[in-house]
Amino acid sequence: MAKAPRRNARIDLNNATAEELEGIEGIDGERARLIIEHRSTRGSFRSWEDVLSVSGIDTVLLGKLQEGSSLGAAAGPPAEGARAATGGGAGTAAGAAKAPRPTAGGGIGDMTALEEIMGLILLDLAAAEAYRVAIAACKTPEIKRQLEAFQGDHERHARALSDALGASLPEEPDDRGQCIRRYTELSAREERTALVAMRGNEELTNDAYASALASDLPDDVRRMVEANWQDERRHIRWITEEIRARGWELPEVPSSLAEAA
Ligand SMILES: [Fe+2]
Ligand SMILES: [Fe+2]
Repeated sequence: MAKAPRRNARIDLNNATAEELEGIEGIDGERARLIIEHRSTRGSFRSWEDVLSVSGIDTVLLGKLQEGSSLGAAAGPPAEGARAATGGGAGTAAGAAKAPRPTAGGGIGDMTALEEIMGLILLDLAAAEAYRVAIAACKTPEIKRQLEAFQGDHERHARALSDALGASLPEEPDDRGQCIRRYTELSAREERTALVAMRGNEELTNDAYASALASDLPDDVRRMVEANWQDERRHIRWITEEIRARGWELPEVPSSLAEAA
């Protein structure tokens, strides 16, 4: 009905107004606002990977955005490749986020890919450690159990990725890992703050996985990263929903106060 523009012309995600964005299936007022906010604070979207980093945009929505919009002049060649790869729709959205690869399979000869995977391993270990801290701050058995399962996922991810590289697990966290642990220790005072801290950590992890999928990965590693990423998306969904259902979301700071700070 009001969504006709989607069929008539591709909307340029880098220039679209909120009203135009809302013409795309799945994009409501809040998501349109987040897209515009992301664009104005971080600049034009250069790839679909950038779009995926907007909060509230998951791979299903990404597929819809790819059908109903383009990235205009700011997009580089990877975005074109990604769009061509969408074909059948939402089911291929996660795969579509990757950059085109010159060859299929092969080892990790690309330093960027290697760095991405090493980064994921360190981040998974840091997340597992942060979960340990958060679990200690929680009392509700159901929450503890769920967080323990998530902690186990992160440990499993780190081991599997290390095995794929033929490397042993790092013994020490890197600087970022230490920051994550410290942040969680300072924030996770009780259940509510523990979940809010872990939501922040999961945002970081989810972004890192999305970014790794945009690099040139061998097929077997890519499949592993995609499977892990599905776990990560499940983690953040559960935490976000739990915070909401328990009424633990803090009111937003009024913009006048935020500006004064
Ligand atoms: Fe992970
Ligand atoms: Fe996670």
